[in-house]
Amino acid sequence: MRGRIVSLVDNVVERGRGLAEHGLAYLLELDAEQYLLDTGQSGTVLLHNAELMGVDWNRLTGIILSHGHYDHTGGLRPLLVRLRRRVPVYAHPDIFRPHFAREKDGRLRPIGLPFNRRELESLGARFIPVETFSEIRPGLWLTGPVPRRTSFEVGDERLVVWTGGGSRSAGLSGTTEGRTPLPESGSTTVSPGPAGLSETKEGRAPLLESDSTTVSPVPSSLAGTAEGWAPDPLADDLSVVIQTGAGTILIQGCAHAGTINILQHVEAHLGRQHFSAIMGGSHLGAVPVSQLEAAVTALRGFDSDQLLLSHCTGLKGAFRLREEFGQRYQPFSVGEVLEF
Ligand SMILES: [Fe+2]
Ligand SMILES: [Fe+2]
Repeated sequence: MRGRIVSLVDNVVERGRGLAEHGLAYLLELDAEQYLLDTGQSGTVLLHNAELMGVDWNRLTGIILSHGHYDHTGGLRPLLVRLRRRVPVYAHPDIFRPHFAREKDGRLRPIGLPFNRRELESLGARFIPVETFSEIRPGLWLTGPVPRRTSFEVGDERLVVWTGGGSRSAGLSGTTEGRTPLPESGSTTVSPGPAGLSETKEGRAPLLESDSTTVSPVPSSLAGTAEGWAPDPLADDLSVVIQTGAGTILIQGCAHAGTINILQHVEAHLGRQHFSAIMGGSHLGAVPVSQLEAAVTALRGFDSDQLLLSHCTGLKGAFRLREEFGQRYQPFSVGEVLEF
C-alpha cells in the first residue's frame, strides 16, 4: 500500500497559513481511498486547513473517531454539513457516553461529543461500531478497546463519568451554559453500516454489527465513589494501524489507554512489528513525571524508526522524547506530511 498522512488539525502550526487549535485530525490517503481520523475541535480549523492543502472532500471514503472527546469530534457536524452526503463513521459506541473533566476548582466540565447522535445521522453520518480489533480495508486496522495491562499507565484521574443514579446537575453547576446538550448515558442504539461496508470480507476480521448495543457499564473496580463520579474507563479510545511495505504505522488519538498498552495490544494481534512511525496524541503531557519516565523507558523496547507524537504530548512530553530519542522524535504539527 502506498499513501500519505497529512496533519490537518494539531495544537501547533509552525509555518504557512494554517490554523491551530487544541485538537487532532489527520487525513489518511491510502492508495485511492481517503479516511479522516478525527475532526479537531471546531470544524473551522479543519475546513480552513483542508482548503489550504487542497483536500478534495468528494474523495472521502470514511471518518474514524479515536474517541468521543470534543477536541477530536467537534468538527464532525461542520464537516457533515460540508459533505452533504452519507458517510460511514467508525467509532466505539461509548463516544456517545457523556465524558467529563474535573477542573482544579472541583467543577465538572463536559468534554464529550458536543452533538446529538440523531442530528449527526440526519446529516449523513452512518455510525459503524468498532468493538474489536478490526481490519476495515486491507492493511487498515482499528484497535477497538485496548486492555489496560501496564502497571504505570493509570489513566488521567481528572477524567470522570457519572455512575450514580438520579440527577448529576449538582456537580455541574455553572459548567454547561452555552453548550449543546449532551446525549444522556444509559443505552444507545447503533445502526448497521451501509451495505458494502457492513459485510465481512474474506480474510478480514469482522466488524461487530448490531441493531442495538448497550453501552458498557463502568468496571466494578471503578464504580461507586461517594459522589457517584468515577474514573472514566474511556473504552471508546481506539487507535489506527496501517501496514505498509516499509513497516507499520500506529496513529493514536489521545492514547488514553496508554501508548505502551496500545503497542502491546497491536503486537498481541499482529505479532511483533517493525513500526516505521508511532504518531498522534500520547497524553504524555498530562501524566505525572513517573508515568512519563516509565513510558519513555518502555518505548525503547519497541522497534520503531520515528516517533511523531503530537497534540496532547505537549511540550513536556516533546522535550523528554527529543532528549531520549534525538532526531527520531519530531512533532507532527499542522501541514506536516508523512509519505509511505
Ligand atoms: Fe485530545
Ligand atoms: Fe482525549
